[in-house]
Amino acid sequence: MTTVSTTPIDGQKPGTSGLRKKTRVFMQPHYLENFVQSIFDGIGGAQGKTFVLGGDGRYFNTQAAQVIIRMAAANGAAHVIVGRDGLLSTPAASHLIRLNKTDGGIIMSASHNPGGEEEDFGVKFNMSNGGPAPESVTNAMFERTTTITAYHIEEAQDVDLHRVAESELAGMKITVVDPVADYAALMETLFDFDAIRAMFANGFRIRFDAMCAITGPYGQEILENRLGAAAGSVVNGTPLPDFGGMHPDPNPTWAHDLMDVMNGDDAPDFGAASDGDGDRNMVVGPNIYISPSDSLAVLAANAHLAKGYTKGLKGVARSMPTSAAVDRVAEKLGLDCFETPTGWKFFGNLMDDGRVSLCGEESFGTGSDHIREKDGLWAVLMWLNILAKREMSVAEVMHDHWQSFGRNFYSRHDYEAVDSDTANAMIADLRGKLGDLPGQTVQGHRIAMADDYTYHDPVDGSVSKHQGVRVMFDGGARFVIRLSGTGTTGATIRLYLEALETDPAAFDQDPQVALDWVIRAAEDIAGIRTRTGKSGPDVTT
Ligand code: G1P
Ligand code: ZN
Repeated sequence: MTTVSTTPIDGQKPGTSGLRKKTRVFMQPHYLENFVQSIFDGIGGAQGKTFVLGGDGRYFNTQAAQVIIRMAAANGAAHVIVGRDGLLSTPAASHLIRLNKTDGGIIMSASHNPGGEEEDFGVKFNMSNGGPAPESVTNAMFERTTTITAYHIEEAQDVDLHRVAESELAGMKITVVDPVADYAALMETLFDFDAIRAMFANGFRIRFDAMCAITGPYGQEILENRLGAAAGSVVNGTPLPDFGGMHPDPNPTWAHDLMDVMNGDDAPDFGAASDGDGDRNMVVGPNIYISPSDSLAVLAANAHLAKGYTKGLKGVARSMPTSAAVDRVAEKLGLDCFETPTGWKFFGNLMDDGRVSLCGEESFGTGSDHIREKDGLWAVLMWLNILAKREMSVAEVMHDHWQSFGRNFYSRHDYEAVDSDTANAMIADLRGKLGDLPGQTVQGHRIAMADDYTYHDPVDGSVSKHQGVRVMFDGGARFVIRLSGTGTTGATIRLYLEALETDPAAFDQDPQVALDWVIRAAEDIAGIRTRTGKSGPDVTT
């Protein structure tokens, strides 16, 4: 074992989901090592502990896995359970942490950010419940990065990660596991595979776009091998270090190939895509795109159709910027509905405390208490289960839902790579205005409330401030503005827009048209376009 002296490196503060940086930054001497040592120190040491390790296969995944294994051994860890070739989707890692009752896990991923030597890499720590470390823990890790003087690492040959096997390094056990098997088995306990299999046998067609990222092997095993979807239903199914140059973010902009197919002639019955590390999902039907907020609401209304949820849901939760479509379902079903800040970590306490079983975010994230991460393939399987049981098309399910619950028109506009000072000044000015906004009329609508969202965790009493500026209008329309906590270049301004429609005659509008006045009101108040000099958003979802 070697103890290497080091000095603190600036900027190792975990964001919304772990530490994300340019890959080249992570590859700098001591960069990864400093952060990993700070993870171990931040959780009170690794001595005698068991960890899960895996990543989404992006560039530097394999080398980083070897470094982390050698550091875990040098820090006295008892056991590391690692996915073959250092691969694990984020949901699979969360499951393995829980299944093996480990002390946590390290996930190597920058999620939906592009991968490659010139792109992004990331590392995050999940706790023994399988969920992302809460802020108290990530703060302790960050604190450590600012004072670190040394890290511990074994000097050793690379561990063979290519084969499912057990080995040992300096007294630490290493178990290489099949990345898919345990996860696939879990899915079989939650969903009616027989019903879905019968639907495929009847000619139902699916296109699942893994975007050259981690879900390829999972999709092939579950959708094609176990459920009988036609061979080739999973496209871009081989994980590549640079994701084949794709931007593995499942939204209409980046998954445009899928959108083209689904909007074309002879579209399959169901389309879906997942992101770099497999926790996100986008769901599409022939000529119908399902907004993630609507997807969450549909899943909440129909979850009882899947065998893991027949007893009904304990409650539901959504992130604050996510539309209130799920709230309407909860109200009708008499379920508790919680609102949390952006980021999956805030759902963990609610799930651990038995208050909710279904959670979602507008950012293409949905999941349940089967693990403590959002789960892309899980959402796809839940949709398939619902379609199989209801014997309806995606469009029929969605229209039926709006008829029952009304339609929360929703869109998110992202302004990317904005100069950080410009973005920060915009937010600061907006915060300064909040007190004066209520009662004013903008674009013909009266502002009912405006604030900078603060979350009070009902389970542990913690308080999270400055989680997004909300401006709410009479009648339930609103916009929310916050800065991204996951980007690596400049600032990304996210503008979330929502308006409730209860008149069925208006359900078929284009959301951008339905939301036009809210978009203009947001511009009047915040001036994003004026300040950034951009004529419109870079990405619209
Ligand atoms: C984004 C999403 C957020 C999600 C996170 C991690 O964070 O908006 O909902 O939990 O990625 O996938 P942001 O960049 O907005 O901070
Ligand atoms: Zn992700």
